[in-house]
Amino acid sequence: MGLVTFISLILLCLNSIPCFCAGISKPSCIQSQRQALLKIKHDLIDYSNMFADWRAGNGDCCKWVGVFCDKATGHVTELRLGSSNDTIASAGAHGRLKLGGKLNPALLDLMSLSYLDLSNNDFDQTPIPRWFWNLASNLQYLNISGSHFQGEIPDFLAIRVSLLLDLSYNNFTGSLPVISLNATVLVLSNNALSGSMSQFLCHRKHRMKLEVLGLGGNLLSGEIPDCWEKWGSLVAIELWGNNFSGKIPSSVGALASLQSLHLSNNSLDGEMPKSLSNLTELLTLDFSANQLSGEIPPWMGERLSKLIIIGLRSNMLLENCWKINNE
Ligand SMILES: *[C@@H]1O[C@H](CO)[C@@H](O)[C@H](O)[C@H]1NC(C)=O
Ligand SMILES: *[C@@H]1O[C@H](CO)[C@@H](O)[C@H](O)[C@H]1NC(C)=O
Ligand SMILES: *[C@@H]1O[C@H](CO)[C@@H](O)[C@H](O)[C@H]1NC(C)=O
Ligand SMILES: *[C@@H]1O[C@H](CO)[C@@H](O)[C@H](O)[C@H]1NC(C)=O
Ligand SMILES: *[C@@H]1O[C@H](CO)[C@@H](O)[C@H](O)[C@H]1NC(C)=O
Ligand SMILES: *[C@@H]1O[C@H](CO)[C@@H](O)[C@H](O)[C@H]1NC(C)=O
Ligand SMILES: *[C@@H]1O[C@H](CO)[C@@H](O)[C@H](O)[C@H]1NC(C)=O
Repeated sequence: MGLVTFISLILLCLNSIPCFCAGISKPSCIQSQRQALLKIKHDLIDYSNMFADWRAGNGDCCKWVGVFCDKATGHVTELRLGSSNDTIASAGAHGRLKLGGKLNPALLDLMSLSYLDLSNNDFDQTPIPRWFWNLASNLQYLNISGSHFQGEIPDFLAIRVSLLLDLSYNNFTGSLPVISLNATVLVLSNNALSGSMSQFLCHRKHRMKLEVLGLGGNLLSGEIPDCWEKWGSLVAIELWGNNFSGKIPSSVGALASLQSLHLSNNSLDGEMPKSLSNLTELLTLDFSANQLSGEIPPWMGERLSKLIIIGLRSNMLLENCWKINNE
């Protein structure tokens, strides 16, 4: 009887040991990555106390707020430190999460990081460090929108696998970088980027995969280059609120998937190119606040049958067009 009890005890132990190990003695967090996270925390100012559980004694860093790891390898794959709703919910923070301070290069130690959200924080006009762009080239999602960064984006930025890059609502200056990318979303709107767009747009050897290009609210100038042939994946283009002049280039007509074209508030002139009649998927077209002339072309009503929003106000289109537009 004693022996049976003993054996069943052993069996019980054998059964429970694996669970025990998986639950406690095999934390999914990697020691060196926990150290990196603590360095990152050290250099940040934590206005909303979101890092309360980022402590050396608190073993599994994969359970820390905003940290997500690969279940198999234990590598940190995602840092969600922006003010997106899910982080707020898990942090239980009041209102927006706000981080400040500076970025520690220990971020580079998180070798498997593929998702970094630092959006809507307050980095108080800190220039973004140079090494940050090396990090950026390995990510699949980078969002530093609205985080009060400034400085220049390097002239050439290789974004190898990035799927989505949002640097909007900062104070980035200098010229538009030539981005070698496979990204599908690139949003640089509401910064202070200046100069021409042609380096960025033209001389592309391969068909680009970009679907969303957001450059609105910058200081870009010169003509909108006539080299859109390689950008056939684009679904949405925002060039509003810049200082573009000259005509709307006819190669825009090559963008067969385009649904949304925002060119408002520039200094574009001339007539609308006939090739725009190719853009049969367009839902939104906004050319308002430019100096476009001529008549509203008949094909706009005939061919662009999916259009829902048409903005043509504040141009120099013919009088009868004003009436149509203002009805
Ligand atoms: C970046 O983050 C902001 C704020 O959290 C969000 O509104 C925006 O949609 C994000 N950008 C992209 C492209 O997902
Ligand atoms: C995110 O938060 C905003 C404001 O708190 C709310 O209006 C919105 O519905 C939320 N979105 C989601 C997807 O929960
Ligand atoms: C983009 O992806 C293709 C394959 O899909 C790859 O051959 C190419 O090297 C990638 N380009 C960059 C800049 O990563
Ligand atoms: C952008 O940076 C410039 C130069 O540092 C500064 O004068 C300006 O106030 C900043 N703009 C915003 C919107 O933060
Ligand atoms: C047009 O752009 C200028 C300069 O960027 C800005 O000051 C102005 O408010 C914009 N106007 C509209 C209607 O968006
Ligand atoms: C806009 O471009 C014109 C030349 O096309 C230039 O004279 C003017 O200074 C520019 N304005 C701004 C605000 O950059
Ligand atoms: C517009 O479509 C026609 C017919 O599909 C094509 O021949 C022409 O090259 C297109 N125009 C542009 C600018 O892509």
